[in-house]
Amino acid sequence: MSIISNCTATAIVDAAAALVKGDLVAFPTETVYGLGADANNKDAIARIYKVKGRPVGHPLIVHISSMAHLDKWARDIPEYAIKLARSFWPGPMTLILPRTGLAKDFITGGQDNVGIRIPSHSIALALIKEFEDQGGLGVAAPSANRFGQVSPTNVRHVEIELSNYLTPKDIILDGGQSLVGVESTIIDCTQSAPTILRPGRVTPTMVNDLLDTAISIKLKSKNSKIKAPGSFESHYAPKAKVYLSGSPNHGDGFLALNSYPTPEGSIRLANPQNNEEYARVLYQALHLADTMKLDKVFVIPPEGDDVAVAIYDRLLKSETKY
Ligand code: TXA
Ligand code: MG
Repeated sequence: MSIISNCTATAIVDAAAALVKGDLVAFPTETVYGLGADANNKDAIARIYKVKGRPVGHPLIVHISSMAHLDKWARDIPEYAIKLARSFWPGPMTLILPRTGLAKDFITGGQDNVGIRIPSHSIALALIKEFEDQGGLGVAAPSANRFGQVSPTNVRHVEIELSNYLTPKDIILDGGQSLVGVESTIIDCTQSAPTILRPGRVTPTMVNDLLDTAISIKLKSKNSKIKAPGSFESHYAPKAKVYLSGSPNHGDGFLALNSYPTPEGSIRLANPQNNEEYARVLYQALHLADTMKLDKVFVIPPEGDDVAVAIYDRLLKSETKY
């Protein structure tokens, strides 16, 4: 595998060509790094599952470069979904829509719907656009981490997680630190009203403000028919044990907004000033805990109805349960 830190136009052309050939390309997005493959190449998609160690049947998000490509993948798109797309794409939002024949079972996990996203990171967009120019139709990309682990927000995380599983022909593109830091908001648009399945930087308030009728946005409930993102017991979890209550002992990790003083003897993993910065540094802090081989991390989640909702969602899933 090669790591490309200078993403020139030529490097993008080469990376897109690698995707066309069926190789894997890990690339930066504004949320987290993705592990990309040609969404129409069954063998390349099978390699994503292998490299991630992900159970099959877990659907993948298809990334496209513009709305012009949307109806290749999705049909019967409701008006409210078009509104969401116009407002928040390119950006940290994934829409679940009824699929066309192009979205095969190996992408959707056999469901009749498909997850679509247009990311806003310039390298992601350039790569997807170039892939489309070379004849591709969409780039499937889960987060570039081993299954159940913390998503990568910089190239070093991708390297640590995946380098043992990639081949010499696979490529990792370096695009610096992901600025949002938590995965995209996933919105189910297959019903008459939208449902947020995974909270993210596009918040329920932002969605409600946009759609004129006051539409209720529910977080995923247990009895929904749609497969839940990150719904396994332990997800987004570092090797260190994560606690959302209690207080750290000497040598334990600590993470909170900078308005909270560091408990004596604990190791502060980050010092975010506000909720957006908290989201940006969250996974970095959890990765740091593992690099420092800490046993325990005590976290005070931020409060609010903004990206704090997404942070709390991920922390609950990474929390040690017993
Ligand atoms: O921010 C993101 O969304 C990142 C970047 C790389 O774009 N991608 C990402 O992919 O987080 P992944 O595979 O790690 O998480 C996507 C989640 C999965 O848990 C999957 O279950 C859910 O989205 N998902 C994908 N397609 C779906 C579908 N058709 N229906 C329901 N859930 C779906
Ligand atoms: Mg993931």
